[in-house]
Amino acid sequence: MPTIRKIGVLTGGGDAPGLNAVIRAVVKSAYNAGVTIVGLEDSFDGLIYPEKSRILTPRDVTGILRLGGTILGTVNRGDPFHKPITTPDGTFDYAERVMEMFERTDLDALICIGGDGTLAISYEFYKKGIPLVGVPKTIDNDIVGTNSSFGFDTAVSFATEAIDRLHTTAEAHRRILVVEVMGRHAGWIAVHGGVAGGADVILMPEIPYDLDKVARCIQDRDAWGARFSIVVVAEGAIPRGGEMSFIAKAREGHQERLGGAGLFVANELEARTGKETRSVVLGHLQRGGAPTAFDRTLATRFGGKAVELVLAGVFGVMVANHPPDIVPVPLGEVVGKTRTVPLDYDLVHTARALGVSFGD
Ligand code: F6P
Repeated sequence: MPTIRKIGVLTGGGDAPGLNAVIRAVVKSAYNAGVTIVGLEDSFDGLIYPEKSRILTPRDVTGILRLGGTILGTVNRGDPFHKPITTPDGTFDYAERVMEMFERTDLDALICIGGDGTLAISYEFYKKGIPLVGVPKTIDNDIVGTNSSFGFDTAVSFATEAIDRLHTTAEAHRRILVVEVMGRHAGWIAVHGGVAGGADVILMPEIPYDLDKVARCIQDRDAWGARFSIVVVAEGAIPRGGEMSFIAKAREGHQERLGGAGLFVANELEARTGKETRSVVLGHLQRGGAPTAFDRTLATRFGGKAVELVLAGVFGVMVANHPPDIVPVPLGEVVGKTRTVPLDYDLVHTARALGVSFGD
């Protein structure tokens, strides 16, 4: 078993409520085990720029359990391999510099908290020789190998509350209200938020939708006297035979920026049904604010387990929620894949039985 005296911790990719809860759990459990934690700012940049790293003690993490965001900052650097970076010491290949600087520090291991992108990059660094453990983070809940990631429950709770609020105004005006939620390739937020909020239509990336069928569902509701409808649209939902809605092309370090799916559906439904329609984009509100109790607990369990694995010398793995346990899963089994909503998911099945339309 390696002797572990110092562990670096970093957060990468888009933020999710619960990142600070992981950092706090890592710092406190390591401290109590006599191990030093070094906080690395802005993902792997914390290894490259010495001024971006600092020792974290329990005092530094007091009060952060309930805070959204990340006290370490986060960046989307994209693929860091073979990418030049200029520092006051010269120009280097980013990934080589990370390896070199890791060797120069007295860190014994890293804990990398991030989504699919950060976990894939971490896995490459692990293969190159950095002992590390990954912690899955995403509000989209689309990381393979874990039953859930923290941030998802907070996003779903927010979406549910938003749909509740939209219900009353939709009903008062007898309108269609279209709510766009996050979910690039997976409709977990759409289906969980939609069902919890009592949506009438749920459109998600896994099920290409037919606008005529959606319009018919709304007209059927009018026929029995509902006179308003709530339509939840995942940002990555695709009309049958059509494409995802983008507002900006992909650029270095950033995937295409999605946007417009909800507005598109709203305009089409207004034209097809003749009903007044409004659309709302929940966007980054779903990623901000305090994590729910569930996310704080999951994040704390992930952080504690990550330290336990590092101290046991188990590397190249990601902590995963396999109820009732938190278990290590090899990073190699996880990266490069997306966990989408299965078409036979019981919640989809139940929602259909209740009359919810998925537009298919
Ligand atoms: O991956 C999570 C996610 O919330 C996606 O659903 C969304 O498309 C993306 O992040 C947006 O991230 P950003 O605005 O930070 O690029």
